[in-house]
This record gives sequence, C-alpha cells and structure tokens, in this order.
Amino acid sequence: MQKPRILINLFHPHIHESRGNRILAGSVRDLQNVTFRNLYTEYPDFKINAKNEQQLLVDHDLIVFQHPFYWYNCPSLMKEWLDRVLEQGFAYPPGVGDKLNGKHWLTVLTTGGPEDAYRSGGFNNYTISELLRPFQQTANLCGMKWLPPLIVHSVLPEGIEGFKNITNDEIRKYAEEYKSFLDQYTIE
Ligand SMILES: Cc1cc2nc3c(=O)[nH]c(=O)nc-3n(C[C@H](O)[C@H](O)[C@H](O)COP(=O)(O)O)c2cc1C
Repeated sequence: MQKPRILINLFHPHIHESRGNRILAGSVRDLQNVTFRNLYTEYPDFKINAKNEQQLLVDHDLIVFQHPFYWYNCPSLMKEWLDRVLEQGFAYPPGVGDKLNGKHWLTVLTTGGPEDAYRSGGFNNYTISELLRPFQQTANLCGMKWLPPLIVHSVLPEGIEGFKNITNDEIRKYAEEYKSFLDQYTIE
C-alpha cells in the first residue's frame, strides 16, 4: 500500500464568489501529495493545452474532479476539458488508449438543491448517482476506478432566504472529511 499522487482539478468560474468550493479547496490544496489546479484560472480563454493536461493525468494516480453542479452537470470548461483531453488513443478505446487504466476518479460536488430534492418523485426527480452516470461511464470507458462521490448539498449564496442553506461551519465539516479521505487514501 502506498500514498497516491493526487491531482485535484477544480472547475469553478467564480471562485472568489464561492462558499462551498472555496472552503473545500482550502482544506486540501496544500496537502503534501496533492497537485491543485483551478482550471478556470489556467484557461480563462478556454484554450486547453491537452498535452499538458494529459501529462498531469499520467503523473498522478487519483484524479479529483471538484465542481459545482450546473444544470445537473459540470461547468462548461470541464466539458471542454473532457472533450479535448480524453483523446482517442490516449484515454480510449479499451486496450489501445490505455494511459488512464487503473487510475482512480473522485467527484467532489456542491449543489444548490437539498439532498431530499434528489430522489424519485422529489423536486429534481433523479438521484445524484443517476445524474452522475455520464461521468461514471466516462471513468469506466477509460479503465478508471469510480469512487463514491463526496457531495455537499444546499450550498447557496449567503443571505438567500426561504431555502435550506448550509452554514460555513457545516461546509467546514465536509472539508475536514474531504481532507482526511485524501490523507488516508492508499493504493496498491
Ligand atoms: C448556472 C448555474 C446552474 C445551476 N444548476 C444547478 C443544478 O442543476 N442543481 C443544483 O442543485 N444547483 C444548481 N446550481 C446551484 C449551484 O450548484 C450552487 O450555487 C453551487 O454548488 C454552490 O457552490 P459554490 O459556493 O462553490 O459556488 C446552479 C447554479 C448556477 C450558477
């Protein structure tokens, strides 16, 4: 068992206005075995350097995709990143593009909606696990191990009333959980 080399790819277009992702990122970005990047800072023009991103993936074992839920999906730069970086011959098809084989994928997600909205018959009709299936299957196709995601619900801007809104102290508890998960994670 050994400590993994961890790459955290944060996708947040307005990190200075963020509560959830800013607090979560603050607790893990300086861990010893972590390479931390906010892709919106790297690529404000959306011109992704695929070769550079691929090399970072090759150099790490656990890849964390941290982002807010936008329209039941990821922010647009992350979609662009997936389209550009997970190239044929690099990430797929199985047996040919095998550079991500055996690496681990962890999604760390914040949502505005409360937990009980994400169920059959609830406000959002589907569970988070159903809505994350395209990412899970992307990991599968690339031969990556999909880990149970870390989800922080009810993250709204401060001062919004009439909806459940998690406090900064509650977010900090999730941030501690995130940090100890990464700290204790081992690979074979
Ligand atoms: C463009 C946009 C789309 C959003 N779509 C969703 C959504 O589909 N489901 C949801 O629960 N929250 C949605 N939200 C709320 C965000 O997920 C929430 O504000 C974010 O996770 C809070 O994290 P932060 O404090 O790091 O910004 C959306 C917010 C924006 C700006």
